[in-house]
Amino acid sequence: MAADCVKLVEVGARDGLQNEAAHVPVSIKIELIERLANAGLPVVEATSFVSPKWVPQMADAAEVLSGLQRKPGVSYPVLVPNLQGLERAHRAGADYVAVFTAASDAFARKNINCTIADSLRRIQPLTARAKALGIPVRGYVSCVLGCPYQGDVPIADVVRVAATLAEMGCCEISLGDTIGIGTPVQARAVVQAVAEVVPIDAIAVHFHDTRGQALANIYACIEQGVRSIDASVAGLGGCPYAYGASGNVATEDLVYLLHGLGMQTGVNLDALIETSHWMSGKLGREPASKLARVKTTN
Ligand code: HMG
Ligand code: MG
Repeated sequence: MAADCVKLVEVGARDGLQNEAAHVPVSIKIELIERLANAGLPVVEATSFVSPKWVPQMADAAEVLSGLQRKPGVSYPVLVPNLQGLERAHRAGADYVAVFTAASDAFARKNINCTIADSLRRIQPLTARAKALGIPVRGYVSCVLGCPYQGDVPIADVVRVAATLAEMGCCEISLGDTIGIGTPVQARAVVQAVAEVVPIDAIAVHFHDTRGQALANIYACIEQGVRSIDASVAGLGGCPYAYGASGNVATEDLVYLLHGLGMQTGVNLDALIETSHWMSGKLGREPASKLARVKTTN
């Protein structure tokens, strides 16, 4: 990818809607994903094939994924926690999946009911099966800058988990500040350390904006050469098992920053802002992003 191009991975339909208390109908989820693709987002994470007992909001994953009108050139990854999830996703037509674990055992236990080591043992056959099916796998590492249950997370633990996922064949490793606790110096240090074991163009960053640090952290990571960034329209997001976490960095705020830096995203900002208002209206609230709330008339 050219140095001035950034690939945005839109996670609102998954990270955002997994956390909504109100029921969001399948038709709205599908319209959201299609609007995001039409606004120029190249990667739109669609849903997750996790246990509906754990995350009832994603119980409709198969209907959402199979009901989509896919836009050529856009990818629609879905989260899968285990082989059962992968097989469900495959049957629903998934052609890109994402596995997820953490750099903190305490968080892994809360989120996926096992240790990091057990989760990696679960991911190993999953990546092998995905390879046999010709499905690329993205890997998420949560709590890279801190954990709501454990506190500090040593960088060495992040590096070890990221390296293992890459060895298992994950094409991209997304480093998640799940609870939005980090600041730019820490974000830079983690990216530098992971880049020792995973090529920089296979590293993505995923910042929740709980403490308003996401854009500053992203800027620090861009300076290190990161060119794949997760974001969520209207700043939707959160993890039901990450106590106190708020939404992801808002895609529209991020696009504004990137375009201001002279970087290309392929995103139509007006269409994105319109989608931000549309989705927030469906949820009965204002967008959490700054940009969508800018007043342009008296
Ligand atoms: P468990 O209870 O230990 O597993 O859950 P289990 O194998 O005993 O399964 C329990 C029940 O769930 C069984 O049903 C299974 O069949 C079923 P029963 O026999 O009781 O009727 N089940 C499934 N059903 C459908 N699809 C599946 C599936 N798997 C099991 N794939 C498990 C372990 C991992 C499944 C569970 O803990 C889970 O689903 N966790 C997901 C939690 C989650 O989705 N969290 C949010 C996503 S991660 C995130 O947001 C962070 C991220 O954004 C990055 C960041 O911000 O850091 C990615
Ligand atoms: Mg997240």
